[in-house]
Amino acid sequence: MMSGMGELWNSIYDKPKQVVGADISPKMNKKATSNSNKYDFPIEVVEQNILENELDDESFDFVISSFGLKTFNTDQLRQLSKEVARILKTGGVFSFVEISKPKSIFKIPFLFYLKIIIPIIGWMFMRNDNSYRFLGTYCSEFENCSKFKSFLEDEGLEVDFHSFFFGCATGVSGLKK
Ligand SMILES: C[S@@+](CC[C@H](N)C(=O)[O-])C[C@H]1O[C@@H](n2cnc3c(N)ncnc32)[C@H](O)[C@@H]1O
Repeated sequence: MMSGMGELWNSIYDKPKQVVGADISPKMNKKATSNSNKYDFPIEVVEQNILENELDDESFDFVISSFGLKTFNTDQLRQLSKEVARILKTGGVFSFVEISKPKSIFKIPFLFYLKIIIPIIGWMFMRNDNSYRFLGTYCSEFENCSKFKSFLEDEGLEVDFHSFFFGCATGVSGLKK
């Protein structure tokens, strides 16, 4: 889900029968399609708004996603939880990770990094700070994966919460029983 340019595919080590990358952006999907040739398992890239997607019920063994949650508001996170529960097969597992607002002393330097340093780096190397300007704001609004965890639980999924690097990223993983 929110597969972008297919950044997660090199973390797939057991050769799957089929991978489907779903992303709303035609530009990202074009890059993902050209990246998909690097892998020796079949990858289908589909242009889908994941919140209203046409993926079949109970059709996936795994749902994985990195860094695609932070722009979603509360209602959208709730809707996404429903979609995860809908498309997973019974016994299927899922895993999501997202940058997050640390509760610890790391909050100040990390938000400074996201709000100031990253846009400067984006401007220096790509002459474009626009893509990164709102990263800190999205992260502050999103906070962490705990709300998403409770929405997934509301859908009957078994969910574990994970915190990485002093809370600078959080994640959820779990199972459809
Ligand atoms: C920050 S990128 C993450 C890409 C990749 N997963 C990674 O780890 O680098 C977020 C992606 O979410 C996609 N996205 C945002 N809203 C979406 C939606 N409603 N449905 C599907 N994809 C969406 C964007 O097009 C973008 O490719």
